[in-house]
Amino acid sequence: MNRPIISLKDVHLSIDGKPVLKGLSLDIYEGETMIIMGRSGCGKTVTLKVILGLLKPDSGEVWVDGKEITKLDQDELNEVRKKIGVLFQSSALFDSLTVGENVAFMLNQHTDLPKEEIKKIVAEKLALVGMAGTEDMKPAQLSGGMRKRVGLARAIAMNPKIILYDEPTTALDPITVSGILRLIKGLHDKLGVTSVIVTHDIPSAFFLGSRIAMMHDGRIIEVGSPEEIKRSENPFVKAFLSGEPDAGEEMV
Ligand SMILES: Nc1ncnc2c1ncn2[C@@H]1O[C@H](COP(=O)(O)OP(=O)(O)OP(=O)(O)O)[C@@H](O)[C@H]1O
Ligand SMILES: [Mg+2]
Repeated sequence: MNRPIISLKDVHLSIDGKPVLKGLSLDIYEGETMIIMGRSGCGKTVTLKVILGLLKPDSGEVWVDGKEITKLDQDELNEVRKKIGVLFQSSALFDSLTVGENVAFMLNQHTDLPKEEIKKIVAEKLALVGMAGTEDMKPAQLSGGMRKRVGLARAIAMNPKIILYDEPTTALDPITVSGILRLIKGLHDKLGVTSVIVTHDIPSAFFLGSRIAMMHDGRIIEVGSPEEIKRSENPFVKAFLSGEPDAGEEMV
């Protein structure tokens, strides 16, 4: 395999005095699609925020593309962040801006590209997510699936090396889900990025993941290919996959 492009080493993090990450370690290799799967509240979103440098661990190391980001100043951290596109759980579009302005947001903030060039990039990214020609629409006019697509166009606007997804398919109907899953997979291959996808949806995880990291109570308890995860003997992993209530509680 290639080198890890993201590496979390024994990360501990408490929020409001409550331990949330409790010695989390995970290597994510360049070009792979890593799924982070686990129960609600186990720390998946917090982990993405740590990778983005939005939350700083109390101890441990966080490497992103060759830099230990917990040691960087704000300017250096911003440089690293430009390499990461993010699709948040809510899509987080700016409702007062048009679709085109949403997709252009980072380009306007962080580049000196001429307006015409930005327009061209926006049109190209919208076409990539199947939303060509929607520049002048407002987010309020879009369905949930369309909002996800626009959020994704915005996430790839700066040609990131890494794309982070937080629950990209929750609250969507099954047909829309399969469209978004195919889009995520297609973009991964077309753009040659590293994808990190947080989900508790098992079919999505098996469809998308080159590897799956099972998270439980602030730690990664198992990492493997979808086939390896399916064959896992870990009682928590087995319980999670079979959908048992209180899956794996007190078992790890
Ligand atoms: N800003 C915050 N303030 C206080 N506690 C927080 C904050 N963010 C996260 N936590 C706590 O950290 C723990 C992990 O939260 P996190 O959002 O990472 O869970 P998750 O695995 O993403 O869950 P879900 O699947 O429901 O999105 C939770 O117990 C949550 O209460
Ligand atoms: Mg979450």
